[in-house]
Amino acid sequence: MITRIMDVSTEPLDMKCIKEAGKILIDGGLVAFPTETVYGLGGDATDKEASKKIYAAKGRPSDNPLIVHIAEFKQLESIAKDLPDTAAKLANAFWPGPLTMVVNKNDVIPYETTGGLDTVAVRMPNNPVALALIKESGCMIAAPSANTSGRPSPTKASHVYEDLSGKIDAILDGGEVDIGLESTIVDLTEDVVTILRPGYINMEMLKQVVGEVRIDPGIVYNDKGTSSGARPKAPGMRYKHYAPKGDLTIISGAEDVVISTINHKAREAIKNGSKVGIIATSETANRYTDGQVLIIGDRSDEGSIAHNLYDILRQFDELNVDIIFSESFATPNMGQAIMNRLLKAAGQKVIEVQENML
Ligand code: TXA
Ligand code: MG
Repeated sequence: MITRIMDVSTEPLDMKCIKEAGKILIDGGLVAFPTETVYGLGGDATDKEASKKIYAAKGRPSDNPLIVHIAEFKQLESIAKDLPDTAAKLANAFWPGPLTMVVNKNDVIPYETTGGLDTVAVRMPNNPVALALIKESGCMIAAPSANTSGRPSPTKASHVYEDLSGKIDAILDGGEVDIGLESTIVDLTEDVVTILRPGYINMEMLKQVVGEVRIDPGIVYNDKGTSSGARPKAPGMRYKHYAPKGDLTIISGAEDVVISTINHKAREAIKNGSKVGIIATSETANRYTDGQVLIIGDRSDEGSIAHNLYDILRQFDELNVDIIFSESFATPNMGQAIMNRLLKAAGQKVIEVQENML
């Protein structure tokens, strides 16, 4: 199969491309498209065969459910069973936007789309291309992130092409995404709203709308980076994800000690014949003395760190580094989401450094 790339990065939106992409979806094909979080790999959510094709193209385990993308609240009502009042409240506050709600499903969305679960994850993306595609096709679009399973999520059309060219019908190239990390997922099927995956919409923002909010104990890590032992409720959070080819370790602590520790470890590793990469910020980059230093963003602008994280991990894959050291990014609002992804990429390897280690 030859994967067509359609440029929809300029305004006004090229509706001819959107119509053609919509036709592919209606005919049971697959189209990758931009959202505000990451690129999605879309198929008609009501079509079992389309969902099976999505799993095959990504090499994704079939028990890991897909997110259904909609453009109107009434589409959620059409696929949910016993929809709680919190759904409308959260939708009013955050849709279109980077929030996915897990609700009980009726028969409209097949089990092939929900990985066999009786619940369905739904979100209304805040991206003009995504919304136009949903409206034009008339399809609710099942879409996981448009990467090969186990690779970093795609934040540019070129990332999608790297992973899926020849395996899907088309890619709508809408330029770089805005946020760069996947949506926050909340479970609305229990008494208390529960965060299953952290994202741009954080705990405080959710609390302001619905009051009490919990975090799935299965995704909480203590300061040594080890799990509480509970099993994550979102199947996708159970898999090792986003693993770069190089062995990644996070070094956390006071800035000066972190930098000197990374410099020391990088020098040792290079002496032993390894190729070393370092994830730095614009504020710290010129203080590293060895290794291949890549700037993830500005410490003063946490959005830039989220935006570039996956691209940096892909760049290190291309550079074929053996060992990667990263600073830690426990930033005020998105810190939890950023560190959740970075810790997974590091297989939870964190070294806490103290002043007296200098
Ligand atoms: O920002 C996003 O959410 C992106 C864009 C494309 O919308 N999509 C995305 O999809 O990140 P994916 O497939 O990479 O991640 C979906 C996550 C997985 O962890 C999956 O297990 C979880 O959502 N999920 C889906 N349906 C669920 C359900 N019914 N119950 C619990 N978790 C569910
Ligand atoms: Mg994914």
